[in-house]
Amino acid sequence: MKVKFQDKKINIRRIGILTGGGDCAGHNAVIVGLLRRINQANLTLPKDEKMELVGLLEGWKSLTRDPDKELEKIIKPLHLLEIEDYFAIAGTILKSSRTNLFSKANLEAKAPKKAMDNLKKLKLDCLVVLGGDDTLGAAGKLGQQFTFPMFGAPKTMDNDVYGTEMTYGFESSVEESVHFIENCRTTAESHNRCFVVEVMGRHAGWVALWAGIAGGAEVTLLPEEIVDMEKVIKQVEKAIAKKQHCIVVVSEGARLFDTRYPEAINKKHQKMLATVIADPKYALVKARHEMPKKKDSFGNEQLGGIGEYVFAILEKHTKGFEYRYQNCGHAIRGGIAHVMDRILGLRYGDAIFSFMKSGVFGVYPGLENDLIVARNLLDVKGGRFVPQDHQLYTMRNAADYY
Ligand code: F6P
Repeated sequence: MKVKFQDKKINIRRIGILTGGGDCAGHNAVIVGLLRRINQANLTLPKDEKMELVGLLEGWKSLTRDPDKELEKIIKPLHLLEIEDYFAIAGTILKSSRTNLFSKANLEAKAPKKAMDNLKKLKLDCLVVLGGDDTLGAAGKLGQQFTFPMFGAPKTMDNDVYGTEMTYGFESSVEESVHFIENCRTTAESHNRCFVVEVMGRHAGWVALWAGIAGGAEVTLLPEEIVDMEKVIKQVEKAIAKKQHCIVVVSEGARLFDTRYPEAINKKHQKMLATVIADPKYALVKARHEMPKKKDSFGNEQLGGIGEYVFAILEKHTKGFEYRYQNCGHAIRGGIAHVMDRILGLRYGDAIFSFMKSGVFGVYPGLENDLIVARNLLDVKGGRFVPQDHQLYTMRNAADYY
């Protein structure tokens, strides 16, 4: 397909596509959405302009390999009839990795240049990158540095990518979390127990917020708020007194201690945690507390486990009630793609083709008032968090209503 790229006419024939960062539902739908449009365009394009879509395996990682090595190992030719049905499945048929192309080590190893050499060697005319803000940011930089046509699509279960009201992957994770919470509720109700349920979402509380509300949680704790365990204990005790069971949803990014917290709260939590850690019953909590924190190649802290602290504090500081802790973990981003993510993924794939066709490069589709808008890859910046004046933020705790 002949299009204009920076005042030049180019013929886009081989389009590369990769998925980076944590997987989620909707990746495959984007690939299918784009491939459908490519196939459709090919029906009428002259022979020398017909296009093909080539998958690059394992995100940026495969592109950083030595350009002399057998490159056919890192590619997966994509044919619509072979992959179409995967649009309804979570995960990514292209596999993924958390590779930071612009990390210090990768810059020293000249990884961006290697990636570009590989793209050229593979005779790719443009690249489509599906990922969160780290992956999209890298696409923007690479495209700018080497004047290469780039596109992106905003994924992540966390729903925290700048420039869109919704990322694909989010809604499926919410559905799976709600299912998990509801399962916990029936057993909580049968045994008069309180369940603390942790959900992923990194430093944005969107998944916890939506899942907490839709799952009818009595209390939901978010990374965006100042968590006060004294208040949480009161809410839980109230729920127990009124209903004999309770669900506390905890976002993995919620914190017991933070520099932005009033000193009194940090101290109070320190005391509460000290009593937990001193009790041999909570040896695992102690071990977690003492474990060094891991980071990925983008410097993101590996989260997970805050729910266990909340569970232990609740169990230790309330009387005569049974508690259980469950972490949804990665399961909520796997399985099937729910309807919203199938549609959103297909829409984003479709939109990327429209951008390409009209010569709008260096962009990714975002959603604004349910319409697709083009966002510049160079504008991607970290984080889109739950604002404290959001209607859902104030509505979230069922225990506040009785
Ligand atoms: O960013 C998506 C996400 O699922 C986060 O919610 C979570 O903290 C992280 O990825 C988990 O990363 P990994 O799959 O590398 O364990």
